[in-house]
Amino acid sequence: MSSVRVPGDKSIAHRAIMLAALARGRSRLRGIPDGLDVQSTQRAMAALGASLHSESDGLVVEGCAGTFAAPTDAIDCGNSGTTMRLLTGLLATRPLTVKLTGDASLRARPMRRIAVPLAAFGAQITLTPEGKAPLTIRGNGAAPGIDVAVTVASAQVKSALLLAALGAHGRTRVGGELATRDHTERMLGMFGVKVERDDDGRLVVDGPALLHGAKVDVPGDLSSAAFLFAAAAAVPGASVVVDDVGLNPTRSAFLDVLCRFGADVDVQPGPRAVEPRGRVAVRGAVLRAVTIESREIAGLIDELPLVGVLGAFAHGTTTVHGAAELRVKESDRIEAFAAAARTLGADVETFSDGFSVRGPTRWRGGDVITHHDHRIAMAFSVAAHAAGIRVQLDDPDCAAVSFPGFTDALSAVL
Ligand code: S3P
Repeated sequence: MSSVRVPGDKSIAHRAIMLAALARGRSRLRGIPDGLDVQSTQRAMAALGASLHSESDGLVVEGCAGTFAAPTDAIDCGNSGTTMRLLTGLLATRPLTVKLTGDASLRARPMRRIAVPLAAFGAQITLTPEGKAPLTIRGNGAAPGIDVAVTVASAQVKSALLLAALGAHGRTRVGGELATRDHTERMLGMFGVKVERDDDGRLVVDGPALLHGAKVDVPGDLSSAAFLFAAAAAVPGASVVVDDVGLNPTRSAFLDVLCRFGADVDVQPGPRAVEPRGRVAVRGAVLRAVTIESREIAGLIDELPLVGVLGAFAHGTTTVHGAAELRVKESDRIEAFAAAARTLGADVETFSDGFSVRGPTRWRGGDVITHHDHRIAMAFSVAAHAAGIRVQLDDPDCAAVSFPGFTDALSAVL
């Protein structure tokens, strides 16, 4: 079986870079991916006064010991929602004014979901009249600790509040919709900050917190590996092995979904670590349709375009509900998926909160509009690879947002 590695986990890398930049002292971050989103976070933290450079064994960050410098210009977060939303939280309780902007896709994404709860810290966050970026954060350096609830099931919103709590004076309790990826909670522990659960299940952080530089080893990104797993899963007899990939249980629901589709999935966990990791082998099969329930969505939010593609290979009707968040990702992923899949011959129905696909598809080649969305581009490269059809993407390069070298990695799946 061919074995491949995938770039380091993007979600974990954003957090590692931000916390290292905030901390006192030196951090050494191994496995930082060189995708464009993570570069946006590196540039942002440099603009705020951290010093970052690459050495042979990783990225070295000299932190600001809690005191950021005011940047001279607006910070450009590129295509990265995680950069913009987490940074807004981090800056909400710091005594400086910063403007954040991004590319056309990021400027079309909703930002009230962070601006409204962060205002409870006394931060002034100005958005466009439509509630979007460019946004300006006037942080409150004298913010009190607060009790606040996350009202959208979003790890970015939860993380923005936890990062704001670090600069607040007193105890912050974050409740509400917390069942999303927990990388921020785990990563804070690595930098010396305790995040506890109270009797009501709320996350508790005492501020102001002084972070200490840390050594972080970032595992491979399961959301990148997922494209390779899907390419193998859809072809009976095809297989792929990915080494050293992240297996955080709040992120790994796609592996379970692959099994339900009928693929053979073998997981070999590695040694115990703050962020679980291991080796995953997937072997393809004749697939059968699956039903994705609302409660599963948070654990596979970034893999849903792939669920759609696999649904088009599977026998029966694959259905996804409870995924309205897909409409406000880098593109409207419900419509982007449906339009591209139909062009290639798939039978797709869309709902306000999901889609259904009736398979198996009689595939035909065609032109796919990616909306410059990396996950749409990669999902349909997987479809082309597995179906053996010619697919022309309008923007094949956008895969580099999260997975530089994707095309070569995909060609290793046989
Ligand atoms: C991310 C959280 C998810 C995910 C995104 C990365 C993160 O977004 O889709 O790719 O790193 O926290 P939401 O929190 O908006 O669901």
